[in-house]
Amino acid sequence: MSRAAEKLLNEEPAKRILLVEDDTGLQRQMQWALDPFKMVAAGTRNEAMRIFEETGDMRIVILDLGLPPDPDGASEGLIILDAILSNAPQTKVIILSGNADRAVAVSAVGRGAFDFISKPIDVDVLKLIVQRAARMFELEEENRALRAFADRRMPGFVFGSSQMQQVAQTLERVARTDASVLILGESGTGKELIARALHETSSRSTAKLVAINCASIPENLLESELFGHERGAFTGAIKQTLGKFEIADKGTLFLDEIGDMPTALQAKLLRFLQSRQFERVGGRTTLTVNVRIVSATNQPLDALVKEGRFREDLYYRLNEIRLELPPLRDRDGDAVILAQHFRNLYNREHSRNLRGFTKEALVALQAHKWPGNVRELENRVKRAVIMSDGPMIAATDLELVSDGKLRNLNLRDHMREVESALLREALAVSDGNVSKAAKLMGISRPQVYNLLGVHKRRA
Ligand SMILES: Nc1ncnc2c1ncn2[C@@H]1O[C@H](COP(=O)(O)OP(=O)(O)OP(=O)(O)O)[C@@H](O)[C@H]1O
Ligand SMILES: [Mg+2]
Repeated sequence: MSRAAEKLLNEEPAKRILLVEDDTGLQRQMQWALDPFKMVAAGTRNEAMRIFEETGDMRIVILDLGLPPDPDGASEGLIILDAILSNAPQTKVIILSGNADRAVAVSAVGRGAFDFISKPIDVDVLKLIVQRAARMFELEEENRALRAFADRRMPGFVFGSSQMQQVAQTLERVARTDASVLILGESGTGKELIARALHETSSRSTAKLVAINCASIPENLLESELFGHERGAFTGAIKQTLGKFEIADKGTLFLDEIGDMPTALQAKLLRFLQSRQFERVGGRTTLTVNVRIVSATNQPLDALVKEGRFREDLYYRLNEIRLELPPLRDRDGDAVILAQHFRNLYNREHSRNLRGFTKEALVALQAHKWPGNVRELENRVKRAVIMSDGPMIAATDLELVSDGKLRNLNLRDHMREVESALLREALAVSDGNVSKAAKLMGISRPQVYNLLGVHKRRA
């Protein structure tokens, strides 16, 4: 790597600029004028492209169109512009042009350049353009980061934590299959949301998702709700009625609060799961449907099985795949990410314009234990958006108290922790053998000794 590129890498990414300009006098002048931005200069296309690759994605490039071997034309500059934008379309390229080729500069903006400025250069104007480009890059990056959290195919399913990343991965994998899925999690962790995402991302999404809440329907009606009934099957059965199983044919049946299903019905559900067949209440014909079963509960189903309150054979049928939703307090960073999501949502819904959360509010969001999980968070933010005087949502608007400090987000601190944990584990697994531990960790023996020293000093 060239020394100039290496030096630039020590600078904050937001402050780096690549200047492509063959006039060394102008190079020096701009370096001085654009402080505090730090510049690396290139005089030719080859040099420019090499530095661009070596330094990784450069945010801002100032590009003189007329470079040797075509100093009076624009061919070299335009090739560089195209190469940069096809590799890294987010780059902000600012074009320097002689007065004569103003038309070319305008067309460069049409090809994706951020802006242009004509020579002789007014450095104050250039400085403004550079600042605007830097700000634009930042805003776009923020946007990209926010969008990356939400999987396009699961709109409304918001997360940033590794814990939920794992859930999303499992979800994606099982969505394609017909396996029965059991979703477990405390109240308000998003079980219904996940059930819907599962259906939406499956090949059954063109058919219906039919949901039934086993806890809210009286026991004597639940059977008919699920399997339907014939006319005259019982008092009040004045006409034939389809059950949820039939309505969900070719789609998904979501059995919510499955832990509350009465024992008698558990047997009938089991029979259906074994044979995919059933009869309507009061009916003799055996019917067959093709439904995928997704069930959910916030009850400890294993414990109910042990106590004999839930059939073990049914439990295994429902539990072909298990998705466990961690409580919100165990999802690193998600409280703040979700809070921003709900702020945007309810700003729109209530035509309000709350711009963000005060520092105290952020601290409180991170510290709160969220016994009601995402539902509690959603309710608090919704109320705050409606009630707050603005422009920022304060901790009191959320009815939370703020005492502690913001969670430590320092990357190096966290890397050290991970490093130390992996080191301890690798040494344990290899029974203290440094060579083996080094191999497991994919580093050299001296590096292991080095880490040992570092972490011993810190301990
Ligand atoms: N990851 C998430 N992203 C966005 N919204 C979420 C997320 N998880 C949950 N929600 C929202 O939180 C609320 C509660 O979620 P949901 O009803 O799915 O929870 P639940 O686990 O079924 O709760 P309960 O056990 O009380 O039935 C809903 O409004 C849902 O849209
Ligand atoms: Mg629910």
